[in-house]
Amino acid sequence: MNIALYGFMGAGKTSLGKALATKLNYLFVDLDAEITKKTNKSINDIFKEKGEIAFRKIEHEVLKEFIKKNDTNVVLSLGGGSILQPTNRKLLELRAYKNIFIDVEINTLIKRLKNDRAHRPLLKNIADNEFDNYIKALYTSRKFSYDNYAEIKISVENESFDATLQKLYLYLNAN
Ligand code: S3P
Repeated sequence: MNIALYGFMGAGKTSLGKALATKLNYLFVDLDAEITKKTNKSINDIFKEKGEIAFRKIEHEVLKEFIKKNDTNVVLSLGGGSILQPTNRKLLELRAYKNIFIDVEINTLIKRLKNDRAHRPLLKNIADNEFDNYIKALYTSRKFSYDNYAEIKISVENESFDATLQKLYLYLNAN
């Protein structure tokens, strides 16, 4: 089985993905980390030097290269925008990835991201007084697609990391 975790920035895809991979004894791969490894640049620097459109092309190429390797038993953590690109969804389909949407309550996302945005190019230049509305608008613009592409949706409410992990694990066993 191959598993792709996606969802908004700050949803905890990387931490959950790592823990899930350990629990399943799968390979864990973080797409942003792969991009950084391949380009030798941070995501911030890629956005700054080349812009978002170029970043999306690189993101696609790195995903394609990884998918071509045909690994199985992978937990892949995607960047928040990756699943929105149809060409990326096609690649995931090729290896029958189960697309799992990690959905976190918007106010929790806002709280988390406010304190953790320096490495996030889409957020780091947003003024404090516009931040909440910016996140709400971006989240809302993506929500329909996020819901639509989910084979499994995990809603994270007021619960511990371990509880979410367990929920994810149980859903996977049941589906
Ligand atoms: C992005 C999310 C980021 C990263 C890039 C763009 C997005 O990944 O890929 O900054 O468009 O939502 P995380 O979701 O892991 O923060």
